[in-house]
Amino acid sequence: MIKPHGSETLTPLFVYDQEKHHALQAEAETLPSLLLSSAAAANAVMLGGGYFTPLTGYMTVADAVGVADNMHTADGTFWPTPVLNLTKDVSGIKDAKRIALRDPNVEGNPVLAIQDIESIEEFTDEQMQTIAEKVYATTDSDHIGVSTFLSQGNIAISGPIQVLNFSYFQTDFPDTFRTCVEIRNEIQEHGWQKVVAFQTRNPMHRAHEELCHMAKKDLGTDGILIHMLLGKLKKGDIPAHVRDGAIRKMVEVYFEPNTVMITGYGFDMLYAGPREAVLHAVFRQNCGCTHFIVGRDHAGVGDYYGAFDAQTIFHDQVPEGALEIQVYEADHTAYSKKLNKVVMMRDVPDHTKEDFVLLSGTKVREMLSEGKAPPPEFSRPEVAQILMDYYQNEVAGK
Ligand code: ADX
Repeated sequence: MIKPHGSETLTPLFVYDQEKHHALQAEAETLPSLLLSSAAAANAVMLGGGYFTPLTGYMTVADAVGVADNMHTADGTFWPTPVLNLTKDVSGIKDAKRIALRDPNVEGNPVLAIQDIESIEEFTDEQMQTIAEKVYATTDSDHIGVSTFLSQGNIAISGPIQVLNFSYFQTDFPDTFRTCVEIRNEIQEHGWQKVVAFQTRNPMHRAHEELCHMAKKDLGTDGILIHMLLGKLKKGDIPAHVRDGAIRKMVEVYFEPNTVMITGYGFDMLYAGPREAVLHAVFRQNCGCTHFIVGRDHAGVGDYYGAFDAQTIFHDQVPEGALEIQVYEADHTAYSKKLNKVVMMRDVPDHTKEDFVLLSGTKVREMLSEGKAPPPEFSRPEVAQILMDYYQNEVAGK
């Protein structure tokens, strides 16, 4: 099986030993505690599940500056985005060596992890701006990822962590949430050698579906890992429970049985475009996948990134050999009215824009909120129905 990133074995930071877990849980109640930001909590969940192998905890200022600048931590590990525990106020943990990290996303703020404090350092405002510029390619506070990053505070608490649970992900998505450990095990159980991963934060329309079919066929993979983001998104994106239902229905009807794993991971969307695409590749390698699909405007938002910047970064900025997983670069994919099927635009050079069914996310949302189904060339009717129900029942009532 493909090796995890930067390590011979996965390094999940969840404490699996029951006795140890019990003891840490009791210890946590005696420790000074810190209420995490949602982003820091998501980092803990990812570290817990082995997704962020080989990292052992939250980064220092030097790590984060190096990662932002040239995608390497201070010890030379290739890593594309800072993994930080940022806060505004450390008065409650002054002089502490060990602290309990409390979950902002679960009622009562239970302890999510315990952290050994390596250092407490402050980023200058200039450093924060530089990191935003390098990671998100903008310092514009209208960019949701930038504003989320800058709103957490300038104080970085670095050091290793031990993770005690998987926040709300395991309870809210028991059938879908998986750790890297579980995904690797399942791939092994299937006996798959080659697996292509598909990242998504959408309910999977026909272009998404076809990208999976095309990648499997072109690469000759044994299976497809549909790996959806279950954490926080921007306003207007479809919530995870609705996407999950739509994806399950689509796979049931339109995919060969036993060729797809429907799974999810507990992370908040960064909307960091190219840098996030590299992060996505890193953690799919950790999941045991050999290939990873990157299409048009991967992990993008608004007009901040060029349509294929998330592909070129792998050629221009990822050093040779830094990753073992291979990227499947997909061109813009859409339904061709001429050929009556979904195609990649590079495969049909004779087509003009008018030959495709092209709908923006805004247009689709508009249709759904008016109670109209997106056309069957865009969304499978089963998926359209689930989305219409959601819009009628959950969005319209608000
Ligand atoms: S993302 O933020 O998770 O990237 P989305 O769920 O829409 O958003 O996309 C999942 C993957 O499908 C990404 O690799 C994206 O580039 C790709 N993709 C989505 N729509 C298209 C399309 N019409 N043509 C080509 N690639 C696409």
